[in-house]
Order: sequence, then structure tokens, then C-alpha cells
Amino acid sequence: MKAVTWQGRRTVEVRSVPDPRIEEPTDILVEITTTGLCGSDLHLYEVLGAFLDEGDILGHEAMGIVRETGPGVHALTPGDRVIVPFNISCGTCFMCVRGLQSQCETTQVHAYGTGAALFGYTKLYGQVPGGQAELLRVPFGNTLPVAVPHGPPDDRFVLLTDVLPTAWQAVEYAGVPPGGSVAVLGLGPIGDMCTRIAAHRGAGTVIGIDLVPERLDRAKRRGVDVLDLGRLGSRVVEAARELTGGRGPCAVIDAVGMEAHGSPAATAAQRMTSLLPDALAARLMSRVGLDRLHALHLAVDMVRRGGTLSVSGVYGGMTDPLPLLTMFDKQLTVRMGQANVLRWMSDLLPLVTDGDPLGVEQFATHHVPLAEAPAAYEMFQAKQDGAVKVLFRP
Ligand SMILES: NC(=O)c1ccc[n+]([C@@H]2O[C@H](COP(=O)([O-])OP(=O)(O)OC[C@H]3O[C@@H](n4cnc5c(N)ncnc54)[C@H](O)[C@@H]3O)[C@@H](O)[C@H]2O)c1
Ligand SMILES: [Zn+2]
Ligand SMILES: [Zn+2]
Repeated sequence: MKAVTWQGRRTVEVRSVPDPRIEEPTDILVEITTTGLCGSDLHLYEVLGAFLDEGDILGHEAMGIVRETGPGVHALTPGDRVIVPFNISCGTCFMCVRGLQSQCETTQVHAYGTGAALFGYTKLYGQVPGGQAELLRVPFGNTLPVAVPHGPPDDRFVLLTDVLPTAWQAVEYAGVPPGGSVAVLGLGPIGDMCTRIAAHRGAGTVIGIDLVPERLDRAKRRGVDVLDLGRLGSRVVEAARELTGGRGPCAVIDAVGMEAHGSPAATAAQRMTSLLPDALAARLMSRVGLDRLHALHLAVDMVRRGGTLSVSGVYGGMTDPLPLLTMFDKQLTVRMGQANVLRWMSDLLPLVTDGDPLGVEQFATHHVPLAEAPAAYEMFQAKQDGAVKVLFRP
């Protein structure tokens, strides 16, 4: 089959690789019909190379048609249409039954002390072959994949694998009071969807902050109060306060993560690390703080006293410095983590099947064949051509 493989810093290639096969009785094989490109893939593209091997198959946002089921699978049959959550969770352990699928105790990666394994996401998360491929082996066939109806286009469902549950959890964790205010830092796919879900769930003021004009325009067209970080610089904090009665938003969602703009020293450190031999780079990444923390610091500064920070952007350093004095003094609540995809499925399924209040069908900006993945990675990273969400059609 053909798959998108990592081949080095800023290098992905579509290669022919062996087809996956059923290995465990509860495995299924899915023929991928649509698979997303995510901001999380960009961290692998540029920064987290030390944790990948050449040839690793990328991707964690896959849906398609069940081609084959292991002998222990009774919940699905070949021909069913499914979405595949990005967390690899068993559905039956202590964490899974509590809705903490990103901490699944059956798939936690003990070698690195991390939570549940993920599709296509480095040795830190199990080095499991990913979904930017023609075929995907999916374990826990009875409890992990979610069947969706035949008929509506894939765009209706594919965001259930990551974007929708991640944004839903970010808004849930933000705890915006009814009619209250929330600022979303970053208007990539995750931040954009956070603004839509926050408005849908009753926030009174939704502020979106980014520095890419097309992304700001796109949010503005849906009624978001947008602030251009590129133009405002640090005055963005003051601008957010002006929109919220002088106090600052009740909650701030960080949908940016470790590669934030505005952190020149950390940018240089990340560049340097990505040039070091893997073993050395991995040690450095896991011992010191190498994240670009600009967005997180903005969030701490901007949120109102007694407010909540909800962090869905991914960070990777072990000892990143945080402004604890301010966080303590402002009495902040901080919630964060990898999305528990299945936890939110019953909230989200009706929103993509009954009407389309979140605009999922028009959400993707680009649909491209898998063969064009290398150019699509480049475009998405450089934020060219208005690219916000790229979907591959294997
Ligand atoms: N928690 C989870 O389960 C989960 C799931 C998916 C993605 N993520 C993470 O969420 C983050 C966003 O993902 P995405 O797909 O939307 O990625 P993206 O890279 O397309 O979006 C990030 C956006 O942030 C903007 N930005 C950069 N610096 C900024 C700053 N200082 N202030 C405000 N905005 C800034 C960029 O211009 C960009 O538009 C990534 O870190 C990704 O890894 C987390
Ligand atoms: Zn993703
Ligand atoms: Zn589990």
C-alpha cells in the first residue's frame, strides 16, 4: 500500500510499504477514505524528529470502510463505515471506563512514561503505524472504532477523530459560564473549532487571536471578535480586556502549543535540537524546556483573575519555566491534556448528523490525493494558500 512516511526534518515521502495485517483477534483493517493533516503532525515534521525513525507512517485522523475483521470482533462487519479515534484506547480499563481514554492503562507507553498510545505519533506514543495510508490496522475492534452511517460525505465525520473532540474538551475544560467570555489563542483547525463550539454552547463573547490574516477572516465571518497578534503585538492583552469589561476573558484556551510565534530564543533552541544526533536531542528534549511558550504566557497574562486556562496545544519540554507567581496570585484554574476522543462522542455525533451547526461540511479548505502529501505538509506548515484544514483522499 501507499503511505505518508517521515524521512527526516521537514521531509515526508509517500512510499510503498507492506500492507498491515490482522495480528490480534480483535483487530480490524480499515480501508482509509479520508485522513486529516493536523497541527500535531507539524510538531513531528519539524521539532520532534528525535523520537521518529525514518519510514514511520504518520497520521492519526483516519476514517474509512472496514475491510477485514479478526475472529474476536463482533461489533463490526466488513463494509461498515467507521471513524478511528486518535487515542488507542481499550475501552475497558480503569481509565477508559472513567472517560480518560488518553490515559488508557492497557496502551500506556511505559518506556517513556507517557499516556495512551496514539496512531502515527512517535516513540513517545508507541510508534504505531499511522492513518495517512491506504490501510490501517486498528486494535480493539469492538470498542475503539465508531460506526457512522453510510451516505453523507466523509467531511461530516472525519473531524470526529480529533478536531471535534479536542475542541469540545478544550471548551469543556474552559468552563465558560453562560453568557461569559472566552479567548482562543490560535485559529488553526483546533482553535477555529473551539470558537464555534464555545459560541454553540452559549458563550457571550468569543475572541479569536492569531496572526494569519486568512485564519482571522475565517473566524470573523462566523461572528468571532478577532484580534490580530501580528498587528497588536503585546497590546493584544489590553485589547482582549477592552472587549471584556476591563477584566479579561473568563477563560483562555491555548490552541497553539510548542511552536508559538514570538519566542525567538526557543525557536533557535528547537532548530538546534533538530540538528543534533537523535539520542542527544531526545535527552535534551526530555530534560530541559524547549517549548516556545509565547502563547501560554499570553494566556496567563490575559485571563481574568479567578479565571481558567484550558490548554489543548501540545507541549513537549520537561522543565519549561512558567510564571507561577502570576498564576498563583491570579488564582487560576488550569486544565489540559490530550483529548479523550470517545468521552465526547455522544455529545458530538448528533451535531454532525442532525443539521450542521458547527459547519463541519465546509470546514476543510483543501482535499488532496495522498500522493501530494509532501506539498500539502509544506503548504500547511507555511500557512500558504489559505490552508486551514487539509484532508487526504487515499
Ligand atoms: N490536546 C489534543 O488532544 C490535541 C489534539 C490535536 C491538536 N492539538 C494541538 O493543538 C495545537 C493546534 O493545532 P492545529 O491543528 O490547530 O495547529 P495549527 O498549527 O494549524 O494552529 C496553530 C495556530 O496558532 C497560531 N499562533 C502561533 N503562535 C501564536 C501565538 N503566540 N498566539 C496566538 N496564535 C499563535 C498560528 O498562526 C496557527 O494558526 C497544536 O499544538 C496541536 O498539536 C492537541
Ligand atoms: Zn490531529
Ligand atoms: Zn483502556
